[in-house]
Amino acid sequence: MKSNFDILYEKYRKMTEEIISGLYPKDYLPTGLPPVLDESMAYSLFSGGKRLRPILVLSTYYSLGGDGKEIEYLACAAEMIHTYSLIHDDLPCMDDDELRRGKPTNHIVFGYPMAVLAGDGLLNLAYETMLEGMFVAKDKDKYLSAAYTLAKAAGMRGMVGGQAADISWEGSEPDKEKLSIIHRNKTGALIRASILAGCLCICDDKETVDSLFRYGEYIGEMFQITDDILDVTSDAETLGKNVMKDAEMNKMTYPYVYGLENSKKRVEELAKSAEEAVCGIKNNEFFISLIEYLKNRTK
Ligand code: IPE
Ligand code: IPE
Ligand code: MG
Ligand code: MG
Ligand code: MG
Repeated sequence: MKSNFDILYEKYRKMTEEIISGLYPKDYLPTGLPPVLDESMAYSLFSGGKRLRPILVLSTYYSLGGDGKEIEYLACAAEMIHTYSLIHDDLPCMDDDELRRGKPTNHIVFGYPMAVLAGDGLLNLAYETMLEGMFVAKDKDKYLSAAYTLAKAAGMRGMVGGQAADISWEGSEPDKEKLSIIHRNKTGALIRASILAGCLCICDDKETVDSLFRYGEYIGEMFQITDDILDVTSDAETLGKNVMKDAEMNKMTYPYVYGLENSKKRVEELAKSAEEAVCGIKNNEFFISLIEYLKNRTK
């Protein structure tokens, strides 16, 4: 039987699909530009995925009482940034992966140059979309602060920086400090910023922001540890991406540095800390259930 959380997650996921479809540009083809760019961008953007980051944006905003349309632009931008990061992450010059979300990776279908451009196109589209949201935002200062948080987390002091660390430290000796820097930036930053963006758009109460900041830190790190664990314990069919890739690429992962059992223990510890972080927040049911979902996820 489906739990209330499953039903709500599914509701947010469907809402996310509609938002992304609605905001994705329809005026590209009439420009006469080659359809392949649009096909390549849409191929990855509409290829499923858990839609975790936009769901974090939406659920945080709604649970804090938000009811504006502007949040949809931020949610959409978060997924566009995430999808572009996956396309580039899979390129032969990065992780060299051929399977993503159960389908051939973007460069396998469209070639390397077009995959690079599809990533560029989605990244830029994320900012176009975020700026478009400014026109409908009721509280423009709050919206700007939310958008800036998301933008900063996606860049050199967040996801891009983390990806640079990830590839720079391939093949290094196990190093706890380096591992933590990789995880907090390449994955944690965007997850935390998605929660904070949802919050800042409606609420700038310091205590709430601080609690959600810590919650985001914990579930962000937890998410990447689980990703590392699944690379070792799952299979391509379930995961929708090839497994045992991290060891092959000599990545600095949690199982590599701490071993598999300690990695699982660390997930439990982070889950507890995440729960404590949001215990003082009103309407925290979704946040609490999400921890369990992320802990037990199989893909
Ligand atoms: C995969 O992210 C890349 C990481 C940051 C670990 P997800 O596991 O959220 O991928 P999708 O969006 O569901 O495909
Ligand atoms: C990628 O981490 C994080 C991104 C910013 C895309 P991984 O390289 O471990 O993600 P997967 O396993 O390919 O999804
Ligand atoms: Mg990678
Ligand atoms: Mg990868
Ligand atoms: Mg991985």
